[in-house]
Amino acid sequence: MKELELTPRLMAIADQVPQGARLADVGTDHAYLPVYLLLKDRIRSAVASDVNEGPLERGRETARTYGVAEDKISLRICDGLAGVEAHEADTVAICGMGGELISRILGAAPWTKDALLLLQPMSSQPELRQWLLANGYAIEGELVVKEGEKYYVILTVRGGVSEPYTSAELWVGRQQPGDVNPHRGAYLADQIRRRERALAGMKQGNPSPEALAREEELLEGLKNLEKEWNAWQR
Ligand SMILES: C[S@@+](CC[C@H](N)C(=O)[O-])C[C@H]1O[C@@H](n2cnc3c(N)ncnc32)[C@H](O)[C@@H]1O
Repeated sequence: MKELELTPRLMAIADQVPQGARLADVGTDHAYLPVYLLLKDRIRSAVASDVNEGPLERGRETARTYGVAEDKISLRICDGLAGVEAHEADTVAICGMGGELISRILGAAPWTKDALLLLQPMSSQPELRQWLLANGYAIEGELVVKEGEKYYVILTVRGGVSEPYTSAELWVGRQQPGDVNPHRGAYLADQIRRRERALAGMKQGNPSPEALAREEELLEGLKNLEKEWNAWQR
C-alpha cells in the first residue's frame, strides 16, 4: 500500500507534535494528521473530532485503509472539543479553520491552557492573536509554511502571559532573533504588498482620519518588522 504522505502544511504541523503525545485533532476531516503520527509511532493515542459526519467518515476510512488499531484512535462527532476530556489530550491541533472559530472552540474548553496547542488559522489571524493574549494564552512560536503559492501560519501556544503586541505583531506575529522560519521574510514582503494595496484603495474612498492613521501605522510597523528580520538574517 502507498505510504501516507502529508502536504507541506500538515507535515509542518506534524513535526511540532511532541514524541509520545496524546493528540486531539479538532476538525480532523480525513484524519490524515493523527493517522500519519500513529503510523510513525510518534503519538500514544489520538482523538479525532469533527462537527460533520461526512468528514468524520472520511477519517474512519483513512484509519481503516492504513490499519490503525481502534484502541489508538477515537473518531468523534462533536462541536470543537465538546466531546473531548482534558485527560485525553496533552496536545491539541486546530487547523484549517477560521481564527474566530478557533478562539470560540478554545474559549469553550479552558483546560486547553494546560495543553500544547498547534493552531493554523485560515483567516482572522489578528483577531485570534488578540483573543489568545486577552484570554490567558501565550504564543510561543510562529512558523510560516508555503504550499503552492499560498502562505500558512502555524502558532505554537500554551497557557501564559505575554507583553502586549503592536498592531503589526498582531497582524503577522511576534519575531525573535534566532527564530528558524525560512519563509518569514517572503511572507512579510507579501503582507506589506497587500497592506500597500489596501491603503491605496482606502485613499481612493473617503476614509476617516482615524482609519487612515491605523492603516498607515500598521504598514509602517510591518516595514519595521521586515527591516529587523532582514538584519537578523545577515
Ligand atoms: C478545511 S477542514 C480542515 C481539515 C484539517 N484539520 C486540515 O487542516 O487539513 C475543516 C474541518 O473542520 C470541521 N469543522 C468546522 N467547524 C467545526 C467545529 N465547530 N468543530 C469541529 N470541527 C469543525 C469541518 O467539518 C471540516 O472537516
